[in-house]
Amino acid sequence: TEGYLISGPVPGLFDAPTVSHYAPREHALEVRGRFSEDAWQDLASHLPAGTVLVGFTSIPWRESWKYGERAFRYLNLNLGHALAALSFASAALGWRATLLDSVGTEDLVQILGVGVADHGGAEAEVEIPDCIVAVHPQGRAVSGFSLSEEVLAEFKEVEWQGRPDQLSPGHVNWPLVAGMAKATAKPHGGIAPETFDETRDGPRFAYPPTSFRKLIRQRRSAVEMDTASAMSRDDFYRTMSRTLPGTGRFPCNLLTWRPEVHLAIFVHRVLGLDRGLYFLVRNPDHEESLRSHMRGNFKWNRPEGAPVGLYMLEAGDFRDLARVLSCNQKIASDGCFSLAMIARFQAALEERGPWFYNRLFWECGLIGHTLYLEAETAGLRGCGIGCYFDDPVCSALGLAGKEHQSLYHFTVGKEVPLRRMETLPAYSATDR
Ligand SMILES: Cc1cc2nc3c(=O)[nH]c(=O)nc-3n(C[C@H](O)[C@H](O)[C@H](O)COP(=O)(O)O)c2cc1C
Repeated sequence: TEGYLISGPVPGLFDAPTVSHYAPREHALEVRGRFSEDAWQDLASHLPAGTVLVGFTSIPWRESWKYGERAFRYLNLNLGHALAALSFASAALGWRATLLDSVGTEDLVQILGVGVADHGGAEAEVEIPDCIVAVHPQGRAVSGFSLSEEVLAEFKEVEWQGRPDQLSPGHVNWPLVAGMAKATAKPHGGIAPETFDETRDGPRFAYPPTSFRKLIRQRRSAVEMDTASAMSRDDFYRTMSRTLPGTGRFPCNLLTWRPEVHLAIFVHRVLGLDRGLYFLVRNPDHEESLRSHMRGNFKWNRPEGAPVGLYMLEAGDFRDLARVLSCNQKIASDGCFSLAMIARFQAALEERGPWFYNRLFWECGLIGHTLYLEAETAGLRGCGIGCYFDDPVCSALGLAGKEHQSLYHFTVGKEVPLRRMETLPAYSATDR
């Protein structure tokens, strides 16, 4: 995932409206192009005062060298993680990040300056634009944003600077990845933002006093989990409730649609909860349909004090099943819990169009990032699991056909400290 900033003049940073690219190693912005004050005023006219825009793109080769065709879903999961990271970081500084989903993929090509003839780089390392996000002061909602013809025409004239480095001397072609990018391109056009169900708010779970900056910087993926440690029920409930949507709930409030993804959770060791299979319904509109599609013998019991939408389906030891479903990875069975993210799949795509396929994975990545930070808060460690067997997951739940699909897995537990590995501080080069 690559990041871009589109902003008006910012004192001490830019004198004129500018598009810049984020260089993570230097933790710096590289100026890519300037545009007129009029175009910025036009862009900003539907946005709260003080807004800046953050754009994201993906370079499929960064994943396909390793994952082949499966790279496409990893790109979109990674993007979901990046969206959540932006939302959390914005929130910590009093800002809010909102996805501007009326913008089409072709529009993004223009305003981010990717894919233009003089962009350089290897042809096999094409960069595809994903989305732009408004970062604006909290308390102000974004609505009615659209890119005008005038702005798009102006961006055609921008003189783009800089060329991306070539990543690899040789490449393997995975035509399906390019085909998927084309098939799921977002058309230009208004999307009515869907409202969240605020009345659903259940119990609130307190956070221990902690430094958010520290949690963000210490976040890593667990490589090996200890098979004995348990987590407290409060920590588990807080983690689950953190993934629920709501206007004031970061990072879910970055997305503009009501949740399409639910959680099937294998609870291995949570103090005060029976081992077993649990389910978190993140959108109550889907509950009836989920209940009717899933196995008839599931209990759907509400555990005492649980966040709204959390049910126990079946008691038992699911460690072996959890491991097998996640490509036999021990991290899925050895931690405190692991889970599968179950999307309402076919109907969500039929209702909105193929472009929504990517967004289902963004929603999953966003949940995954939330789980990473919740794990750190609880003194534990998380790990995203992109390798899993999707159809067997559905069979285990009694789900048939393409109505639902498992799109991402995640695990949380106590990490076994790694030997012969050294962790360097984040941003050490800049000391920021
Ligand atoms: C979308 C995604 C899928 C992942 N899938 C797996 C996986 O199946 N197995 C695994 O051991 N780690 C998995 N990881 C963890 C990555 O290996 C890890 O995030 C990466 O090496 C960077 O390390 P860090 O998270 O500690 O910064 C996944 C991470 C992401 C974001």
